[in-house]
Amino acid sequence: MTTVTVDRAGLWDAEELSDVAAATFPLACPPGSDIDDIEVFLAEALSGERFGEYLSDPARTVLKAVADGEIVGYAILHSGPPSDPAVATAVALDPVLEISKMYVLPGHHGTGVSSALMHAALEQARGADYAGVWLGVNQENLRAQRFYAKYGFEQVGTRTFTVGRQVYHDDVLRLEF
Ligand SMILES: CC(C)(COP(=O)(O)OP(=O)(O)OC[C@H]1O[C@@H](n2cnc3c(N)ncnc32)[C@H](O)[C@@H]1OP(=O)(O)O)[C@@H](O)C(=O)NCCC(=O)NCCS
Repeated sequence: MTTVTVDRAGLWDAEELSDVAAATFPLACPPGSDIDDIEVFLAEALSGERFGEYLSDPARTVLKAVADGEIVGYAILHSGPPSDPAVATAVALDPVLEISKMYVLPGHHGTGVSSALMHAALEQARGADYAGVWLGVNQENLRAQRFYAKYGFEQVGTRTFTVGRQVYHDDVLRLEF
């Protein structure tokens, strides 16, 4: 087991979080995904500048997992109802917290880093009296699907997720407290 601590990230972490995002986002994409589309998404959604915005947004909490002084994973929690009405209907919880990102560097998979992040996310949601949490996960991302199932997440719907010119198919999962 890795010795890991999970804390709320600050603005000073933006560039390091972006580096972790660049190393981990491709792992969540289906095999055969176009690298150019992934690069576009990294630049548009996961740059240091964008992390600066996430870290400054009162509706978001960025959690960082640190091992040996390095950020090895992160999660972003997003408060508020899902913006897609179909997802909101499927999730059917109010108030609800979205786990909008959950990414761990590959060398730290299966070591307890992801469970530390998940426990911190759920603790925060329960402590703030949310009715539950929800997330979207690619239908081909079997490792992540299995990971979420271990915490009791259940599929309540589907959605599409656009990465560059690709339209990916996600399951919408929910954990009701
Ligand atoms: C998703 C993620 C956070 C999970 O963390 P993790 O440390 O890998 O999770 P765990 O090892 O605790 O659990 C993964 C489970 O999937 C299983 N698994 C691994 N590969 C698998 C596969 N190809 N198919 C099905 N299950 C698989 C593991 O055996 C484990 O189950 P077990 O504990 O019952 O043995 C991490 O894998 C990750 O960051 N992946 C890349 C980014 C990503 O996909 N993020 C999620 C976006 S929604």
